[in-house]
Amino acid sequence: MTALNEVADLSAEGEIAVLTLNSPPVNALSAPVRDGLAEGFKRAIADPAVKAIVLICAGRTFIAGADISEFGKAPKGASLYDVQAVMEGSPKPIVAAIHGTALGGGLEVALTAHYRVAVPSAKCGLPEVNLGLLPGAGGTQRLPRIVGPEKALDMMTSGAHVPAKAAAAMGLVDDLAEEGELREAAVAFARKILAENRPLKKVRDLNDKVEAARGKPEIFADFRKANARKFRGFLAPEYNIQCVEAAVNLPFDEGLKVERKLFLELMTGVQSAAQRYAFFAERQANKIPDVPEDTPLIPIAKVGVIGAGTMGGGISMNFLNAGVPVRIVETQQAALDRGLATIRKNYENTAKKGRLTEDEVEKRMGLLSGSLNLEDLADCDLIIEAVFENMDIKKDVFGKLDKIAKQGTILASNTSYLNVDEIAAATSRPESVIGLHFFSPANVMRLLEIVRGEATSKPVIATSMKLAKTIGKVGVLVGVCPGFVGNRMLSQRQREANKLILEGAMPWDVDRVLYDFGFPMGPFAMSDLAGLDIGWSKEKSSSSTIREVLCEMDRRGQKTGAGFYDYDENRAAKPSPITEQTIKDFAAKSGVNQRTISDEEILERCVYPMINEGAKILEEGKAIRASDIDTVWINGYGWPVYRGGPMFYGDTVGLDKVLAKMKQFQAEMGDDFKPSALLEKLVAEGKGFKDL
Ligand code: 3HC
Ligand code: NAI
Repeated sequence: MTALNEVADLSAEGEIAVLTLNSPPVNALSAPVRDGLAEGFKRAIADPAVKAIVLICAGRTFIAGADISEFGKAPKGASLYDVQAVMEGSPKPIVAAIHGTALGGGLEVALTAHYRVAVPSAKCGLPEVNLGLLPGAGGTQRLPRIVGPEKALDMMTSGAHVPAKAAAAMGLVDDLAEEGELREAAVAFARKILAENRPLKKVRDLNDKVEAARGKPEIFADFRKANARKFRGFLAPEYNIQCVEAAVNLPFDEGLKVERKLFLELMTGVQSAAQRYAFFAERQANKIPDVPEDTPLIPIAKVGVIGAGTMGGGISMNFLNAGVPVRIVETQQAALDRGLATIRKNYENTAKKGRLTEDEVEKRMGLLSGSLNLEDLADCDLIIEAVFENMDIKKDVFGKLDKIAKQGTILASNTSYLNVDEIAAATSRPESVIGLHFFSPANVMRLLEIVRGEATSKPVIATSMKLAKTIGKVGVLVGVCPGFVGNRMLSQRQREANKLILEGAMPWDVDRVLYDFGFPMGPFAMSDLAGLDIGWSKEKSSSSTIREVLCEMDRRGQKTGAGFYDYDENRAAKPSPITEQTIKDFAAKSGVNQRTISDEEILERCVYPMINEGAKILEEGKAIRASDIDTVWINGYGWPVYRGGPMFYGDTVGLDKVLAKMKQFQAEMGDDFKPSALLEKLVAEGKGFKDL
């Protein structure tokens, strides 16, 4: 075996050279990896004893892509194009041996090899789109030549990781190896193609699939139309589509030029910067400075959930999906039956869509049991309370749990706003108490705000962070304050949205501005969906807000066919003249002179106070880092990932601009806009949140 550099070595299996990369954690294409590849292929090609070359990776995966942390820095060493030129110029067949994931630049390297062998558990994909990019090393031109433009469009715009068997069915993988025997299988495959004297198959020369699509622009028009909603606001999907169009309509080298031009445009743009930031932000959130990686974890074999309402049901499904048994406790049999039936119905709906088999439905339901007795939670390792949002009830529940739960059990609350320390004080073991704040629908939304109380122990925190991963969530650790990180900042936006409609903007104006910014829906459409009457009662209603007045008119949202908007029989929303008049009357009664409000003001009024509140949260140490706040907003509240989260957006706009506006609004409208000390400090120092 010859070491080529610190991450690559070359060895021989008779006449087959085996080039092995070993660059943990994911063999990303860093400068040393590229250098190792270029050098390894050159040497093997030059060695007359070598007849064929196998490229394989050590560790958990084949090459998982370009090294994203190198993006934006000065290029070093061999470029990926250099490596590919050596590979494509090789007179000896090259076989890529794939395990783990061959992603992005990794798959592009594999596509430059002449053949690909994979173990069944391997996956192939071009996930660049999720980083606001497109495959920039020929992937956009080679993939359609192998799998055809339609499948290439799907793979490149979804970033999906295609399992090896499906990849083999598409022709992307030439041969499947036994699990654990990849090296032997790849070497045997290389010998076989030598023995059969197979020609060197270069993907760039395959033209039948792209030619078949030439002169059929409808393939692309239909694809754009079918996905318009999904791609809204994002640049990268459209650019990926244009590259596939180029693959179909232009010769290979011309197509490559289109790819490079569009790749560079995306790479230097703000969307990709935001999406790459979000990728690292999500991973960074796992790192808790005072909770070391080797903190002991508490084994979670059985989970208890209290309350089978909207949240309790969704929370339970997460654990059932991960194969962890759940017992739900309710106060009334009817509520319990309803809750269990809803879970079953959800699974059956998924099964109807073909995304779950009947067996799987039964297996998951088999892990679920219900009870009316808190004592039945005595053997649970984690108990999550999801009862009404009322401090007295929560304290009562935790006081009882303290007597019932075995020692060491994690006692969690799903509260949205309440003080976790006060809840913990109802027990004799506050170190075991934590907030696990799921978002609705809890089985779907990716965010889990993990609320650390004053006394919460490190193993409880470490276990909760790990648990988030187990159930496919993004866990973000936050501190105790009203509404924690997400809802605390949301309150700022909601307050301004409510003020704006009193001052003269219409609900649909505010919604349109936020929708165009990239949110899935605006706050008033959201209120209509959730119901305007959450927390409202007819008896106590005093016509003191526009929302109350609408509820009094029985305009309680989509469920009553009218709220801020009017709804037709298909639940399509229309601006409502009744709401408009109601708001105008309410403003007149309140002595507010309505005025025309620009879209720019709507956006700044809704978003800048959120950024300012985020700065306060950082100042108070309620979030560890600005990127954690952004991770909360992207995964829990539909903040468009291509804008990187509110803090990243603040940096993009320029904190000096944000501060100047806040000061202007403060002078005009009062202390709702009082700038935080941190914002002032950062601007004075010419810094951004990224510099913290
Ligand atoms: N570059 C640099 N670092 C990377 C990386 C990459 N492409 N992919 C993963 N990492 C790092 C992560 O930041 C993380 O670091 P940390 O431990 O310090 O936090 C570590 O590797 C492990 O990653 P995960 O925690 O995500 O591990 P998983 O096992 O959950 O997932 C994975 C592995 C599926 C490979 C996942 O990391 C992933 O999806 N990576 C990104 C893949 C990708 O987008 N590739 C395309 C890159 S762009 C490109 O190739 C351009 C080309 O066309 C020119
Ligand atoms: P819900 O009203 O749908 O469900 C609450 C359930 O708890 C009811 O079924 C009720 O019968 C049951 N319950 C009440 N007291 C109980 C007790 N002592 N023992 C056992 N069961 C009891 O309420 P939802 O929406 O599920 O909210 C639950 C908690 O989750 C609240 O703290 C809420 O703030 C929080 N939350 C709600 C979100 C949402 O969007 N609905 C989002 C995130 C958190």
